[in-house]
Amino acid sequence: MTYIFAHRGSSKDCPENTMAAFKKAFEDGADGIELDVQLTKDGVPVIIHDEKIDRTTNQKGYIADYTYEELLNIDAGSWFSKAFQNEHIPSLEMLLQWIAPLPLLLNVELKNNEIEYDGLEEKTLDLLHRYGMEKRTVLSSFNHYSLIKIRKLNPYIETAPLYSDGLLDPWEYVKVVSSQSAHPYYKTLHPYIMEGFKRNNIPLRPYTVNQKKWMQYFFKWGAQAIITDYPLIARSVLHGD
Ligand code: G3P
Ligand code: CA
Repeated sequence: MTYIFAHRGSSKDCPENTMAAFKKAFEDGADGIELDVQLTKDGVPVIIHDEKIDRTTNQKGYIADYTYEELLNIDAGSWFSKAFQNEHIPSLEMLLQWIAPLPLLLNVELKNNEIEYDGLEEKTLDLLHRYGMEKRTVLSSFNHYSLIKIRKLNPYIETAPLYSDGLLDPWEYVKVVSSQSAHPYYKTLHPYIMEGFKRNNIPLRPYTVNQKKWMQYFFKWGAQAIITDYPLIARSVLHGD
C-alpha cells in the first residue's frame, strides 16, 4: 500500500495549515494529512508552520507571544485569497475532532527546531491519546532529541526524523534516534540510499514531492508514502484516476 500525505493540507489550493486546506485534502483523496504544531503563550498546541504569524496571517509576532484566545480572531486566510478570510489558526484539538471519525492518517510535525516549546511533546501525545489517534499517527521533527523524548514518553507511537542533508547510512541513524521510519528531503534519496532503507525495512515518506516525475520515481521505488502539496495530482499518478 502506498499513501499520499497532503503537506500542510492541500496547500496549493487553500491557505496552508487551515481547516479549509485539510478538508480539501480529504476531498482530493489524500490518505493522510501533514501539519505543523507549536505552542501558544498559554500552552495550547496550534497548527502553524512559521514561528512567527507574519507570513500566514494579517498580524505580526511570535506565536509564543499570543494566547490561544488572542489568536481566535486572527485572519489566517486572506493572505492567500479573500475567499478564505474566515480561516483561522486551528488548534490541534480542533483538527483531531474533525479527523478522528474519518479514514485518514496523520503526520504531526513538532515544529520545535528553532524554539523549544516546554511540554509540546507531552501535550501532543495527550491529545492524540484522547482522540484515539495514536495508531494512525506518525510524529516527525527536525529536532531529533524531541523524537528520543517521545519514545521515552510513549514507546508505541511511531516517530520519524525529518532531515534535509545527506546522512551517512541514514537507516542506521533512524535507529539511533529511536524512530521507526524516515521523512527525508526527497533530493537526498539516491537509489543506493533507498536500497539501504529497503534492506532495513524502514518505511520512507519523502517530502515535498510536487513534480510528477518524482512522484513516479518514489512510487516505483516503493516509498511507503510521499508528502506533497498536490494530493490530487499524486493520486492520479498513483492510481491513474
Ligand atoms: O514533513 C515534511 C515537511 O513538512 C518538512 O518541512 O518546512 O515544510 O515543515 P516543512
Ligand atoms: Ca511540516
